[in-house]
Amino acid sequence: MDNYAVFGNPIEHSLSPTIHTQFAEQTGCDIRYTKILAAKDEFTDCALDFISSGGKGFNITVPFKIEAFKIANHLTLNAKTAGAVNTIKIQDGELYGENTDGKGLVNDLCNNLGLSLEGKDILILGAGGATQGILLPLLEQKPVRILIANRTKARAEKLAMDFATHGKVCGFGMDQIKAKPVDIVINATSASLSGEMPAILPGVAKGAFCYDLMYGQKTPFMNWAKQSGASGVSDGLGMLVEQAAEAYYFWRGVMPKTDEVLSSLRATIG
Ligand code: ATR
Repeated sequence: MDNYAVFGNPIEHSLSPTIHTQFAEQTGCDIRYTKILAAKDEFTDCALDFISSGGKGFNITVPFKIEAFKIANHLTLNAKTAGAVNTIKIQDGELYGENTDGKGLVNDLCNNLGLSLEGKDILILGAGGATQGILLPLLEQKPVRILIANRTKARAEKLAMDFATHGKVCGFGMDQIKAKPVDIVINATSASLSGEMPAILPGVAKGAFCYDLMYGQKTPFMNWAKQSGASGVSDGLGMLVEQAAEAYYFWRGVMPKTDEVLSSLRATIG
Protein backbone atom coordinates (compact mmCIF):
# COMPACT_ATOMS: atom_id res chain seq x y z
CA MET A 1 0.00 0.00 0.00
CA ASP A 2 1.31 3.48 -0.93
CA ASN A 3 0.87 6.27 1.60
CA TYR A 4 -0.18 9.81 0.70
CA ALA A 5 -1.40 12.72 2.82
CA VAL A 6 -2.52 16.33 2.86
CA PHE A 7 -0.94 18.82 5.27
CA GLY A 8 -2.74 21.97 6.39
CA ASN A 9 -3.93 24.03 9.32
CA PRO A 10 -6.87 23.79 9.65
CA ILE A 11 -7.35 20.44 7.86
CA GLU A 12 -10.45 18.90 9.47
CA HIS A 13 -12.80 19.79 6.59
CA SER A 14 -10.47 18.78 3.76
CA LEU A 15 -12.21 16.80 1.01
CA SER A 16 -8.90 15.53 -0.41
CA PRO A 17 -8.99 12.09 1.33
CA THR A 18 -12.48 11.45 -0.10
CA ILE A 19 -11.41 12.53 -3.58
CA HIS A 20 -8.15 10.54 -3.69
CA THR A 21 -9.74 7.44 -2.19
CA GLN A 22 -12.29 7.51 -5.03
CA PHE A 23 -9.51 8.02 -7.61
CA ALA A 24 -7.66 5.01 -6.18
CA GLU A 25 -10.75 2.78 -6.33
CA GLN A 26 -11.44 3.89 -9.88
CA THR A 27 -7.85 3.25 -11.07
CA GLY A 28 -7.43 0.01 -9.09
CA CYS A 29 -4.60 1.34 -6.89
CA ASP A 30 -3.94 0.36 -3.30
CA ILE A 31 -3.32 3.67 -1.53
CA ARG A 32 -3.95 5.22 1.85
CA TYR A 33 -4.52 8.98 1.96
CA THR A 34 -4.71 10.75 5.32
CA LYS A 35 -5.06 14.33 6.52
CA ILE A 36 -2.35 15.65 8.80
CA LEU A 37 -2.78 18.74 10.95
CA ALA A 38 0.61 20.44 11.32
CA ALA A 39 1.19 23.16 13.91
CA LYS A 40 1.92 26.50 12.22
CA ASP A 41 5.70 26.26 12.82
CA GLU A 42 6.05 22.50 12.41
CA PHE A 43 5.19 21.84 8.77
CA THR A 44 8.74 20.95 7.69
CA ASP A 45 9.30 18.53 10.62
CA CYS A 46 5.92 16.85 10.02
CA ALA A 47 6.60 16.53 6.30
CA LEU A 48 10.06 15.03 6.93
CA ASP A 49 8.55 12.51 9.40
CA PHE A 50 6.01 11.50 6.78
CA ILE A 51 8.79 11.07 4.21
CA SER A 52 10.93 8.94 6.56
CA SER A 53 7.94 6.73 7.28
CA GLY A 54 7.91 5.83 3.57
CA GLY A 55 5.28 8.30 2.25
CA LYS A 56 5.14 8.47 -1.55
CA GLY A 57 3.76 11.99 -1.86
CA PHE A 58 1.60 14.63 -0.29
CA ASN A 59 -0.58 17.65 -0.91
CA ILE A 60 -0.12 20.93 0.86
CA THR A 61 -2.85 23.42 1.60
CA VAL A 62 -3.16 26.71 3.50
CA PRO A 63 -0.91 27.97 5.08
CA PHE A 64 2.05 25.78 4.03
CA LYS A 65 2.32 26.10 0.23
CA ILE A 66 5.26 28.49 0.39
CA GLU A 67 7.14 26.33 2.91
CA ALA A 68 6.51 23.34 0.67
CA PHE A 69 8.02 25.33 -2.20
CA LYS A 70 11.12 25.84 -0.06
CA ILE A 71 11.65 22.18 0.88
CA ALA A 72 11.27 20.80 -2.67
CA ASN A 73 14.54 19.81 -4.38
CA HIS A 74 13.05 20.10 -7.86
CA LEU A 75 10.27 22.42 -9.11
CA THR A 76 8.07 22.30 -12.19
CA LEU A 77 7.61 25.52 -14.19
CA ASN A 78 4.12 25.88 -12.72
CA ALA A 79 5.48 25.64 -9.19
CA LYS A 80 8.27 28.12 -9.95
CA THR A 81 5.94 30.75 -11.39
CA ALA A 82 3.33 30.16 -8.68
CA GLY A 83 6.02 30.58 -6.01
CA ALA A 84 4.13 27.88 -4.12
CA VAL A 85 3.77 24.08 -4.14
CA ASN A 86 0.57 22.12 -3.50
CA THR A 87 1.87 18.68 -4.50
CA ILE A 88 5.11 16.89 -3.63
CA LYS A 89 6.24 13.56 -5.06
CA ILE A 90 8.97 11.61 -3.28
CA GLN A 91 11.22 9.59 -5.54
CA ASP A 92 14.64 8.17 -4.65
CA GLY A 93 14.75 10.46 -1.62
CA GLU A 94 14.24 13.58 -3.74
CA LEU A 95 11.26 15.93 -3.35
CA TYR A 96 9.59 17.01 -6.60
CA GLY A 97 7.33 20.06 -6.20
CA GLU A 98 4.40 20.88 -8.48
CA ASN A 99 1.48 23.31 -8.32
CA THR A 100 -1.69 21.88 -9.84
CA ASP A 101 -4.10 24.68 -8.82
CA GLY A 102 -3.97 26.58 -12.11
CA LYS A 103 -4.28 23.46 -14.29
CA GLY A 104 -7.20 22.39 -12.10
CA LEU A 105 -8.95 25.71 -12.68
CA VAL A 106 -8.36 25.60 -16.44
CA ASN A 107 -9.61 21.98 -16.65
CA ASP A 108 -12.76 22.90 -14.74
CA LEU A 109 -13.45 26.00 -16.86
CA CYS A 110 -12.72 24.34 -20.20
CA ASN A 111 -13.69 20.67 -19.75
CA ASN A 112 -16.44 20.72 -17.12
CA LEU A 113 -18.00 24.13 -17.75
CA GLY A 114 -17.42 24.17 -21.52
CA LEU A 115 -15.73 27.58 -21.77
CA SER A 116 -12.93 28.53 -24.12
CA LEU A 117 -10.43 31.08 -22.80
CA GLU A 118 -8.74 31.87 -26.10
CA GLY A 119 -9.22 35.50 -27.11
CA LYS A 120 -11.18 36.25 -23.94
CA ASP A 121 -10.91 39.20 -21.58
CA ILE A 122 -10.42 37.84 -18.06
CA LEU A 123 -10.68 39.86 -14.85
CA ILE A 124 -9.16 38.40 -11.69
CA LEU A 125 -10.10 39.92 -8.34
CA GLY A 126 -7.23 39.67 -5.86
CA ALA A 127 -3.45 39.61 -6.21
CA GLY A 128 -2.40 37.19 -3.46
CA GLY A 129 -1.00 33.67 -3.57
CA ALA A 130 -4.16 32.25 -5.14
CA THR A 131 -3.86 34.59 -8.14
CA GLN A 132 -0.15 33.94 -8.56
CA GLY A 133 -0.91 30.20 -8.59
CA ILE A 134 -3.37 30.35 -11.51
CA LEU A 135 -1.84 32.98 -13.80
CA LEU A 136 0.50 30.85 -15.92
CA PRO A 137 -1.99 28.10 -16.84
CA LEU A 138 -4.59 30.79 -17.64
CA LEU A 139 -2.13 32.70 -19.86
CA GLU A 140 -1.25 29.44 -21.66
CA GLN A 141 -4.86 29.37 -22.89
CA LYS A 142 -4.15 32.60 -24.83
CA PRO A 143 -6.74 35.02 -23.47
CA VAL A 144 -6.53 38.44 -25.14
CA ARG A 145 -5.57 39.85 -21.75
CA ILE A 146 -5.83 39.31 -18.03
CA LEU A 147 -6.74 42.22 -15.76
CA ILE A 148 -5.80 41.87 -12.11
CA ALA A 149 -7.68 44.14 -9.73
CA ASN A 150 -6.68 44.29 -6.11
CA ARG A 151 -7.67 46.28 -3.03
CA THR A 152 -3.95 47.08 -2.61
CA LYS A 153 -3.09 48.38 -6.07
CA ALA A 154 0.71 47.95 -5.78
CA ARG A 155 0.36 44.17 -5.36
CA ALA A 156 -1.65 43.88 -8.59
CA GLU A 157 0.86 46.02 -10.45
CA LYS A 158 3.78 43.90 -9.25
CA LEU A 159 2.10 40.63 -10.24
CA ALA A 160 1.26 42.05 -13.68
CA MET A 161 4.90 43.04 -14.15
CA ASP A 162 6.17 39.62 -12.99
CA PHE A 163 4.02 37.83 -15.60
CA ALA A 164 4.49 40.33 -18.45
CA THR A 165 6.74 37.93 -20.38
CA HIS A 166 3.98 35.28 -20.43
CA GLY A 167 1.20 37.41 -21.95
CA LYS A 168 -0.76 40.64 -21.64
CA VAL A 169 -1.43 41.25 -17.95
CA CYS A 170 -2.53 44.58 -16.45
CA GLY A 171 -2.68 45.34 -12.75
CA PHE A 172 -4.76 48.01 -11.06
CA GLY A 173 -6.72 48.94 -7.97
CA MET A 174 -10.18 47.47 -7.34
CA ASP A 175 -11.62 50.98 -7.16
CA GLN A 176 -10.45 51.52 -10.74
CA ILE A 177 -12.66 48.77 -12.20
CA LYS A 178 -15.01 50.28 -14.77
CA ALA A 179 -18.53 49.09 -15.54
CA LYS A 180 -17.34 47.82 -18.95
CA PRO A 181 -18.11 44.09 -19.14
CA VAL A 182 -15.42 41.42 -19.51
CA ASP A 183 -15.87 37.78 -20.59
CA ILE A 184 -14.85 36.00 -17.39
CA VAL A 185 -14.53 37.23 -13.79
CA ILE A 186 -12.57 35.09 -11.33
CA ASN A 187 -12.74 35.80 -7.61
CA ALA A 188 -9.33 34.93 -6.15
CA THR A 189 -9.62 37.11 -3.06
CA SER A 190 -10.01 35.57 0.36
CA ALA A 191 -13.02 37.86 1.00
CA SER A 192 -15.56 34.99 0.77
CA LEU A 193 -13.86 33.37 3.77
CA SER A 194 -15.14 36.18 5.95
CA GLY A 195 -18.50 36.32 4.16
CA GLU A 196 -17.57 39.50 2.30
CA MET A 197 -17.69 40.62 -1.30
CA PRO A 198 -15.10 43.11 -2.60
CA ALA A 199 -16.70 46.45 -3.54
CA ILE A 200 -16.97 46.14 -7.33
CA LEU A 201 -19.26 47.85 -9.85
CA PRO A 202 -21.79 45.23 -11.03
CA GLY A 203 -21.55 46.30 -14.71
CA VAL A 204 -18.28 44.42 -15.16
CA ALA A 205 -20.02 41.07 -14.62
CA LYS A 206 -22.97 41.66 -16.98
CA GLY A 207 -22.99 38.78 -19.45
CA ALA A 208 -19.70 37.43 -18.02
CA PHE A 209 -19.03 33.96 -16.64
CA CYS A 210 -18.21 34.41 -12.94
CA TYR A 211 -16.10 31.85 -11.09
CA ASP A 212 -15.25 31.77 -7.38
CA LEU A 213 -12.13 29.82 -6.40
CA MET A 214 -13.88 29.09 -3.08
CA TYR A 215 -16.42 26.31 -3.03
CA GLY A 216 -19.78 26.27 -1.36
CA GLN A 217 -23.39 26.56 -2.38
CA LYS A 218 -23.61 30.34 -2.62
CA THR A 219 -20.59 32.47 -1.82
CA PRO A 220 -21.11 36.26 -1.51
CA PHE A 221 -19.32 36.63 -4.89
CA MET A 222 -21.72 34.18 -6.55
CA ASN A 223 -24.72 36.07 -5.18
CA TRP A 224 -23.23 39.35 -6.44
CA ALA A 225 -22.60 37.79 -9.87
CA LYS A 226 -26.18 36.57 -10.22
CA GLN A 227 -27.55 39.96 -9.23
CA SER A 228 -25.15 41.60 -11.71
CA GLY A 229 -26.53 39.67 -14.70
CA ALA A 230 -23.71 37.12 -15.13
CA SER A 231 -24.21 34.61 -17.95
CA GLY A 232 -23.06 31.79 -15.67
CA VAL A 233 -21.81 31.32 -12.14
CA SER A 234 -19.72 28.61 -10.53
CA ASP A 235 -17.97 27.93 -7.26
CA GLY A 236 -14.56 26.23 -7.15
CA LEU A 237 -15.57 22.65 -6.30
CA GLY A 238 -14.67 21.49 -9.81
CA MET A 239 -11.26 23.11 -9.50
CA LEU A 240 -10.70 21.25 -6.22
CA VAL A 241 -11.41 17.90 -7.88
CA GLU A 242 -9.40 18.75 -11.02
CA GLN A 243 -6.33 19.93 -9.10
CA ALA A 244 -6.50 16.65 -7.15
CA ALA A 245 -6.66 14.68 -10.41
CA GLU A 246 -3.55 16.51 -11.68
CA ALA A 247 -1.79 15.72 -8.37
CA TYR A 248 -2.75 12.03 -8.68
CA TYR A 249 -1.35 12.05 -12.21
CA PHE A 250 1.88 13.72 -11.01
CA TRP A 251 2.34 10.97 -8.41
CA ARG A 252 1.21 7.90 -10.28
CA GLY A 253 1.22 8.71 -14.02
CA VAL A 254 -2.49 7.81 -14.31
CA MET A 255 -5.13 10.48 -14.95
CA PRO A 256 -8.31 9.62 -13.05
CA LYS A 257 -11.77 10.53 -14.35
CA THR A 258 -13.30 13.39 -12.43
CA ASP A 259 -16.98 13.56 -13.45
CA GLU A 260 -18.42 11.00 -11.01
CA VAL A 261 -16.24 12.20 -8.13
CA LEU A 262 -17.38 15.77 -8.75
CA SER A 263 -21.06 14.86 -8.94
CA SER A 264 -20.92 12.76 -5.77
CA LEU A 265 -19.23 15.63 -3.88
CA ARG A 266 -21.74 18.11 -5.29
CA ALA A 267 -24.56 15.94 -3.98
CA THR A 268 -22.95 16.00 -0.54
CA ILE A 269 -21.99 19.64 -0.18
CA GLY A 270 -24.68 21.26 -2.32
P1 ATR B 1 -4.28 33.82 -0.82
O1 ATR B 1 -3.05 32.99 -0.74
O2 ATR B 1 -5.55 33.11 -0.43
O3 ATR B 1 -4.40 34.53 -2.12
P2 ATR B 1 -3.34 36.26 0.37
O4 ATR B 1 -2.03 36.13 -0.32
O5 ATR B 1 -3.40 36.70 1.79
O6 ATR B 1 -4.13 34.89 0.37
O7 ATR B 1 -4.27 37.22 -0.52
C1 ATR B 1 -5.59 37.50 -0.20
C2 ATR B 1 -6.18 38.37 -1.33
O8 ATR B 1 -7.54 38.67 -1.03
C3 ATR B 1 -5.46 39.69 -1.49
O9 ATR B 1 -5.53 40.07 -2.84
C4 ATR B 1 -6.34 40.62 -0.62
O10 ATR B 1 -6.23 41.99 -0.96
P3 ATR B 1 -5.02 42.88 -0.36
O11 ATR B 1 -3.80 42.52 -1.14
O12 ATR B 1 -5.46 44.27 -0.59
O13 ATR B 1 -4.94 42.50 1.10
C5 ATR B 1 -7.71 40.08 -0.98
N1 ATR B 1 -8.77 40.39 0.00
C6 ATR B 1 -8.97 39.81 1.20
N2 ATR B 1 -10.08 40.31 1.79
C7 ATR B 1 -10.60 41.21 0.93
C8 ATR B 1 -11.76 42.07 0.95
N3 ATR B 1 -12.61 42.08 1.99
N4 ATR B 1 -12.00 42.88 -0.12
C9 ATR B 1 -11.14 42.88 -1.16
N5 ATR B 1 -10.04 42.10 -1.25
C10 ATR B 1 -9.77 41.28 -0.22
